[in-house]
Amino acid sequence: MDGIKIVGLGKSVPQKILTNDDLAQMVETNDEWIVSRTGIRTRHICETESHQDLCLHAAKVAIADAGIEPGQIGACIVATVSADNVCPAAACLLQRDLGLPEDIPCFDLNAACTGFLEAMHVMECILNASARKFGLVIGCEELSHLVNWEDRSTCILFGDGAGAAVVESSSEYAFTDTVLGCRGDEALLHIPGAGAAEPSVISMEGTAVFRFAVEMIPKCIAQVLEKKQATMEDVDCFVFHQANARIIDHVVHKLHIPPEKCFKNIQEYGNTSAASIPLALAELKELKKIGPGSKVLMVGFGGGMTWGGTMVELA
Ligand code: COA
Repeated sequence: MDGIKIVGLGKSVPQKILTNDDLAQMVETNDEWIVSRTGIRTRHICETESHQDLCLHAAKVAIADAGIEPGQIGACIVATVSADNVCPAAACLLQRDLGLPEDIPCFDLNAACTGFLEAMHVMECILNASARKFGLVIGCEELSHLVNWEDRSTCILFGDGAGAAVVESSSEYAFTDTVLGCRGDEALLHIPGAGAAEPSVISMEGTAVFRFAVEMIPKCIAQVLEKKQATMEDVDCFVFHQANARIIDHVVHKLHIPPEKCFKNIQEYGNTSAASIPLALAELKELKKIGPGSKVLMVGFGGGMTWGGTMVELA
């Protein structure tokens, strides 16, 4: 089976910035509590932009970064739990708005905060069965629509944003050794659907999710490295789902990862669920912290409960 490389990256965040002090006007909290428990200082929130606007902008930047034409794209997947519509899928509207070919699969994928990594793996499999060799994978969330703004234990955590990757399939690249998993659970993290009696807002057992994450990330890293026959030293950069800076710091400390090899932008964006990993990748590339040949190990975890890890090279 052919593997994939990332050949283009893009990001998009809404203009409006909500600070911890802004939140302290809305619920009983304060900057010190939020920063010390989560590392989050600000998050971007949609006011004038839609979910679709974020997807479209991030996708255009990634396609331009890859230096390809939309007509060369062989599939489009948007990982999200917060699209503007249940139907049509955000990916279908991107087919129209980007001018993607009509004879390709375009669909949304829901695996919460693991969504981008699940979508990358699905894309790799689709491109193996396609005559076209480029794929567009987007993680995009407008979580501000799904937050209970009266619940201080969750509303401080989340933000809106999008990250996009153009990937290329080639026999020159080894099939990526992605690790994916799921343990069905609606108690730890829940967003009710359209037919539910309760309002469709996020509820979460924060401490249990924290525990789940700090156990799962090292397991995923070990499994990816074993499959890849690689060591920690082979990794140029670690990108973990940005859910809480303390979760990331805990893993860095436990596994003796050099802190400069582990990227964090949660302080600026909060938890953007499926967008957090591609947003971090796009920013790393902008900052020239990763480039051609960089090996990036990514781990995602979240609602479902789901988890996943993979190691991908940049072209
Ligand atoms: N401001 C001030 N106090 C707050 C608060 C806020 N925003 N939110 C909760 N508190 C209070 C609680 O009410 C509780 O008070 P009590 O002891 O009087 O009951 C106290 O702070 C401790 O709450 P607790 O939930 O135990 O704090 P914590 O240290 O576990 O931190 C989270 C809470 C949510 C920050 C943390 O559990 C977390 O980040 N979990 C992971 C969440 C996550 O990653 N979710 C997404 C997964 S993809």
